[in-house]
This record gives sequence, C-alpha cells and structure tokens, in this order.
Amino acid sequence: MPVITCIDDLKRLHRKRTPKMFYDYAESGSYTEQTFRENTSDFAQIRLRQKVAVDMTGRSTRSTMLGEEVAMPVALAPVGLTGMQRADGEIKAARAAAKFGVPFTLSTMSICSIEDVAAHSDAPFWFQIYTLTDDDFNKRILERARAAGCSALVITVDLQLLGQRHKDLKNGLTAPPKFTLPVLADLATKWRWGIEMLGTKRRFFGNIVGHVSGVEDPSRLSSWTAEKFDQALNWDRIQRLMEMWGGKVILKGILDAEDAEMAAKVGADAIVVSNHGGRQLDGALSSIRVLPEIVAAVGERTEVWLDSGIRSGQDVLKALALGAKGVMIGRAYIHGLGAMGEPGVTAALEVIRKELDTSMALCGERRVADLRRENLLVPKGFFEAYE
Ligand SMILES: Cc1cc2nc3c(=O)[nH]c(=O)nc-3n(C[C@H](O)[C@H](O)[C@H](O)COP(=O)(O)O)c2cc1C
Repeated sequence: MPVITCIDDLKRLHRKRTPKMFYDYAESGSYTEQTFRENTSDFAQIRLRQKVAVDMTGRSTRSTMLGEEVAMPVALAPVGLTGMQRADGEIKAARAAAKFGVPFTLSTMSICSIEDVAAHSDAPFWFQIYTLTDDDFNKRILERARAAGCSALVITVDLQLLGQRHKDLKNGLTAPPKFTLPVLADLATKWRWGIEMLGTKRRFFGNIVGHVSGVEDPSRLSSWTAEKFDQALNWDRIQRLMEMWGGKVILKGILDAEDAEMAAKVGADAIVVSNHGGRQLDGALSSIRVLPEIVAAVGERTEVWLDSGIRSGQDVLKALALGAKGVMIGRAYIHGLGAMGEPGVTAALEVIRKELDTSMALCGERRVADLRRENLLVPKGFFEAYE
C-alpha cells in the first residue's frame, strides 16, 4: 500500500489508475476554469494564526450536521458517475463514509442506484436530486429515496443547465465508455480499472435506467438528462419539492446573500455555499470569499455549510472559522476512490481529519465549535474586493 500523506498523493494515483475521460471529468471546471482555480487559490490566501502554550489535550473533531452526530463536520458531496471512477464506486464511498462516521450523499446521476447503495451500506445516506421536467420522475425518485431510508434530501439549485467543460466534449465522455481507438489505448494502461469493471453489472445510470421510458441508449443519458433538466426551476417549485419530500432539506449551490435569504425563507434546514466546484458559472467568486456575508445574512436561521475547493483539513478549519457549521468535499474523496477504492476514500477522510486536528491544536483550539474568525489571518480587503 503506498504511503499517503495528503490529498495530492491520492490525486496522482487517481490520475494514473483511472481512464482519462473520467479523471478529466472530475478534475475540470467549466470554460476557462477561473472559478475552479480560485476555489483553491483563495483558500491558500487565508493563513492560520498560531497560538502557543495552550493545553491541547482532550481534543475532538466531533460535531453534528443537521442534528446527526459526525466524526468531523465533513460530508461527502454528491458526485455524478462515481461508479465510473472505480467499479461500484458509490457503494464503496458510502461504506467508507459510514465506517468513518460522516454523511454520504448519493447523486441522481450515480451509477449505483439508491436501492443498491441502501442494500450495501449500513448507515442512512442523503439523496441529491436534480429536478427534471418529468414531474412523475421527480415524484417517483423521492418515493424511492424515502423507501430506501435516506435521512435528508439535497436539492441542487445551481444546475438547471450544464456549464460546459471542454475536456468532456473532447474526450467524448459517456458512461460506460465507447471503445474508440484512443479509449482502448488509454484502457490498456488502466488494467486494474478494467478488471474491476468487468466484474460488476453496475455500469449505467442506475437511478434512471429502467425508471424512465423511451430511453434506448443509456450511455447517452448524460445528454438526455441535460435536455430534461428543469430549466423552469424556481423558488415556488423548490418549495413544492420540499413539501413533497416532507423531511430535512439541504439547498446546495447558493453563492449570493439574497438567494440565501430566499433559502432560509422557504425553510431549508441547511444550505451549501457552493459554486459546484467551479463546474457551473465560470467567473463566479470562490465560495470561501462569499461565506462570511452569507453566514451574516442567514446563519442564525439555517445551518450554513460550504463546499468547493476543500483539499485539506486546514481548508476545513478555515471554513469553520469563517462561520460554516460544516463542509462538503467532492474531488478530495473522488481522488481517494479513483486511487484505491474504498480504502482510498477512508484514507482521504483520515488525511483531512488528522490535518484538521493537528492544525486546530496548533491554533490553540480543542473543539471545532470553538473555531472563529480570530483563528485566521486574512489579507486586507479580501472579502470586500468585489462588489
Ligand atoms: C466529478 C463531479 C461530479 C459532480 N456531480 C454532481 C452531482 O451529480 N450533483 C451535485 O449536486 N453536485 C455534483 N458535483 C458538485 C459536488 O457536489 C461539489 O459541489 C463539488 O465537488 C465541491 O467542490 P470540490 O470538488 O472542490 O470539493 C460534482 C462534482 C464533481 C467534481
């Protein structure tokens, strides 16, 4: 087993072991990738304030998210096509999360179906819905998530249409891949992936195939779904969806204080300050830059979480110190999965937990709930740079 010291180690292995089209699918942003890059470079601008000679015994990263006990306030974000990064990827990630004690979120665009993940994982998970124009589909998928025991619904509000990611077009991304010459040449060096993939039947969009009529070529479902995304989604429809669900709701993809106000008004139990990992509106600000304004606006009324750009426990610390009650990670765990399957996801979580714990201690703090703005050094004007 390779020595894993940081998320970058997992990223290198992910790249080496996974077909190019799926690695690229994960490791890209939309258009010029400005927002994708700034998600991480903005985190890097914020520094930590060292405090010495503080008793650091009895530390804990434990917390709660939506009232659920968590080993650290870090949830696995919904990531489409996870079962293409590694065979049965969603099941592996859900199991690793359950054992570690953090929430896992299953995407509508997953390869393993809701029922399949529920049957192979011990803990309840969250389900993320992309609303389609097909209201019957929306209703049925909520019923399926409820029947599978999903403990919260994540409604993603920043993807009514797809931001273009150039590499996906150039690579001819499909799930499963079509065996063109370049794909075959690439697969020749990714034998581990191929062998595992031959051993599973889970190679199509499990939540959709067999649940929507009139679909002949399942690999084309990505474009099919892009056409079927509900571009008319608005706050009324979101509210109706929340009523249909009837349980806890997380609204994911908020980047603006006015939108956060609306989310609080419709009764979201939590919101995720997110730009979809830089995959949607290129040119939008990084989520860490807008976090404090959103916490100030709605932090008393709803739990505010953040994702986009978290690659270390230090990043988690920064988000918590700026008022987030929790975070989600996408690529950080996908790198782990692509690198080493289930143990890789565990390794990613372990790396982040240790980094968070050590950095917290060196900042003179013992509990995540105690982290606050004073633990950070932020460049002058950082949060006021844009208006
Ligand atoms: C490969 C990939 C696929 C994604 N698919 C979905 C999805 O199906 N649903 C969704 O709500 N968000 C999706 N996201 C966004 C993530 O949930 C999350 O917002 C993002 O990854 C956070 O940024 P990070 O990767 O820098 O941590 C996806 C992200 C990636 C990288």
